[in-house]
Amino acid sequence: MAKLITEEQLAVQREYITKLRGENALYAQRTGRARSVLTETYGCQQNENDTERIRGMLRDAGFEFTEDPHNADVVIYNTCAVRENAEQKVFGRLGILKHIKEEERPDMIVAVCGCMVQQEHITEKIKAVHDHVDLVFGTHALYKMPELLYRAVKEKNVVVDIEQSDGAIAEDLPIMRDGSDKAWVSVMYGCNNFCSYCIVPYVRGRERSRSADAVMNEVRELAANGVSEISLLGQNVNSYGKDLDEGIDFADLLTMVNGVEGVKRIRFMTSHPKDLSDKLIDAIARCDKVCKQLHLPVQAGSDRVLKQMNRRYTKAQYLEKIDKIKKAIPEISLSTDIIVGFPTETNEDFEETLDVLRKAEFDHIFSFIYSRREGTPAAKLDFALSDEEIRRNFNKLLDVQNEISKRKNEAMVGTVETVLVDGVSKNDAAMLSGRCDNSKIVNFKGDKSLIGKYIDVRITEAHTWSLNGEYVRETEGR
Ligand code: 5AD
Ligand code: SF4
Repeated sequence: MAKLITEEQLAVQREYITKLRGENALYAQRTGRARSVLTETYGCQQNENDTERIRGMLRDAGFEFTEDPHNADVVIYNTCAVRENAEQKVFGRLGILKHIKEEERPDMIVAVCGCMVQQEHITEKIKAVHDHVDLVFGTHALYKMPELLYRAVKEKNVVVDIEQSDGAIAEDLPIMRDGSDKAWVSVMYGCNNFCSYCIVPYVRGRERSRSADAVMNEVRELAANGVSEISLLGQNVNSYGKDLDEGIDFADLLTMVNGVEGVKRIRFMTSHPKDLSDKLIDAIARCDKVCKQLHLPVQAGSDRVLKQMNRRYTKAQYLEKIDKIKKAIPEISLSTDIIVGFPTETNEDFEETLDVLRKAEFDHIFSFIYSRREGTPAAKLDFALSDEEIRRNFNKLLDVQNEISKRKNEAMVGTVETVLVDGVSKNDAAMLSGRCDNSKIVNFKGDKSLIGKYIDVRITEAHTWSLNGEYVRETEGR
């Protein structure tokens, strides 16, 4: 059973929220303006969801929010460690903040939290190079943010909490969600898989599941507040419940969420192919609210590389699962993650990845160039290809996939799809944009009053990454 942060521990943090609120009120009296905070999030939805908790605690502590660092009294970066470029971005931002702090805002509190600082060498680097950072806290200390921030404000000393632990689960933390139609709900934290390239198990700890009761209470409350689309999150949702003694697995949980009144769409990520069960495929097929969409990271096509990655399936086994899913749910939209340039990957190995793309026919892929992560087993391996060859393979991968994505999108032209209208289109301010059940983006002309509603659109045009459509009617359903 996953350990919980106790009610006493949470009460201590609530006291610090009250203390911070007092401090902030005094500050506002003194200066005539409220203390403002800027939060910035890197990485996956899990991090986005964590930032929503951080913002919830900050809101309760009386902070206002800003997006302008020149105007911020507190800056919090919630960081990602999966690839080096995410870390470099944070270091770049910290460099800019140093100037702002020195020249304009000497009292600014700079905080770095999340996955990146859970690595010792990064924390050492921050201490050595970025002495304007006041507060560093890891993924396991998130619930303690009020106390840590209070100390940083009062003590003027650098406060660091990067305790290594499997991280007990903190339920009922305040939350300030982004948006009112859709919400993320974490069902489990951490990962036990130790893929040889991946830092996640080291920075997020072992797998631990939230109780089904806690998940269901959160979902019911969201639905009661008008949220209709729920995305269930976990590094490997197929392991959900294995550490609990409730006898409820992820397929059961999906079925339970499917029964909640007010919920119209359910999405989830991520599934590890080795654990994708027939029972889960059946649940996706059977549950009317579960979107017919599956993200199933393959990472590579060569059996030798897959073995070195410690993925524990072969290319043939992966493709068998894809076949099975397509047979059970013919309309399923599939996506995957691919790493190009894993050490030891040769051009022949890479051809196997292209072969998976051609056979599986994903609707969409997320592709990454391998990034060396200190402390992972793959970091010790030598590269078979030069940077230039890896870059060439990466571009080839995109070429092959773009053609498949376009073809799959073209097959939707003429169909009528229900979309949840998200807002104004990112590409064209005169258009609205929303997502189909299968998660594809549709842009169409329509009145802004449609935002937040479910409508039917007829698909008129296909692009590589999106569709165009025309408004047909509003719909009650999904
Ligand atoms: N380098 C490149 N990509 C990585 N991923 C995880 N670790 C690395 C790494 N070291 C990718 C995987 C994973 C996704 C979230 O990030 O494809 O599925
Ligand atoms: Fe990383 Fe593998 Fe766990 Fe995914 S399953 S988080 S790639 S270790």
